[in-house]
Amino acid sequence: MDAQKIREQFPILRERVNGKALVYFDNGATHPKPTSVVDAEVKFYHHDNANVHRGVHALSQRATDSYEGVRNKLCKFFGTNNTQEYIFSSGTTASFNLLSTTLAPRVEAGDTIVVTRMEHHANFVPWQQLALSKKAKFEIVELKSDFTLDRDHFKRAMAMKPKIVSFSAMSNVLGHKNPVSELATLAKQAGAIVLVDGAQLVAHDEFKISDLGLIDAFVFSAHKISGPTGVGVMWAREEFLKSLPPYQFGGDMITFVEDQSTIWNELPWKFEAGTPNIAGVIGLGAALDFMTEIGRGNILKLEHELVKQGLAKLKQVKGLKILGSESHEGRAPIFSFILEGVHPHDIATLLDLEGIAVRAGHHCAQPLLRHFNQTATTRASLSYYNTAAELDVLVSAIENAKKVFSRGT
Ligand SMILES: Cc1ncc(COP(=O)(O)O)c(C=O)c1O
Repeated sequence: MDAQKIREQFPILRERVNGKALVYFDNGATHPKPTSVVDAEVKFYHHDNANVHRGVHALSQRATDSYEGVRNKLCKFFGTNNTQEYIFSSGTTASFNLLSTTLAPRVEAGDTIVVTRMEHHANFVPWQQLALSKKAKFEIVELKSDFTLDRDHFKRAMAMKPKIVSFSAMSNVLGHKNPVSELATLAKQAGAIVLVDGAQLVAHDEFKISDLGLIDAFVFSAHKISGPTGVGVMWAREEFLKSLPPYQFGGDMITFVEDQSTIWNELPWKFEAGTPNIAGVIGLGAALDFMTEIGRGNILKLEHELVKQGLAKLKQVKGLKILGSESHEGRAPIFSFILEGVHPHDIATLLDLEGIAVRAGHHCAQPLLRHFNQTATTRASLSYYNTAAELDVLVSAIENAKKVFSRGT
């Protein structure tokens, strides 16, 4: 399937912005939705609207079947066979809050929690706060000058026998993959609980859960892979989930409520209190179907080409520095850059005038930007449907931005 045919499935790409054809390079923040995802949500509300797990009537059965069916789709997508291991949440952030809250009783003063310098705040702040509240040590594994994780530092951190190690499989700023399985083995050997932020990896790689090695949990958000906003998935090993207390209390997460005590529901519902985002989960199912239809291998190929082209084209812009590896191996088409003499917000504003949507700011990764002595960068994050021609539009708009600012000085 070529990018043009895929593009036709995303109505938003027909938008014009400031009189120009939209060039959407903000996929890292959220991905456009194909018609099939929006239709799946509309179909639910028009034809099946009912609560799940609660009624014997036909609509409730249909709603429950569609909602629960998405766990089967997840099993197929990630090559697993236990639907109980998929918990629906409202996103990656919510999943990490679930994990940090339910793991809190296991952390004591003097324990160590390990994260890395490249974490999104969603996988940084919950652990930092847990460590502070327990007087535990919060160890941040640093980067090397080639932007990769410092494995020697990681090994030293493992020598501290951490209770919890939580790291990103792919940075939303740098765009490269971390060796998840290798890091997980080291963390497990040290006796740690191993948690992985998969919010970007899920959009930019083809993998099974088993490829990630000895991890305990892997979390991501539906909206990064063309699903709806406000829906997240936490995959976790059954034994690990069983060992955790419930996160929130209320309807659906119980089997029996006595006057003075309650018996929790089985997995996965023990972690899904209250009415979930039913339409959103069904939309996620449609997004998984959509990616599967294109083929995750094809997505990877299209993106690999964009990585090569993007690096080559951006390297030609004088004064532009990419924060991230300049090698195209193990990398997604996420290009964070700084342009000499022009503030990232100014670049983004000028690009917007040309119809190009990029993100400027700290990308919810202030500890990482601090490491580079930056408060903001401009980030063009591409996806499989983007084209080399759009990259040309970006490069020429950056060149124009340079001219505008050189005139001003
Ligand atoms: C690597 C990474 N982790 C976590 C998140 C947070 O995801 P959400 O805002 O959907 O909870 C993001 C979103 O930008 C991300 O890129």
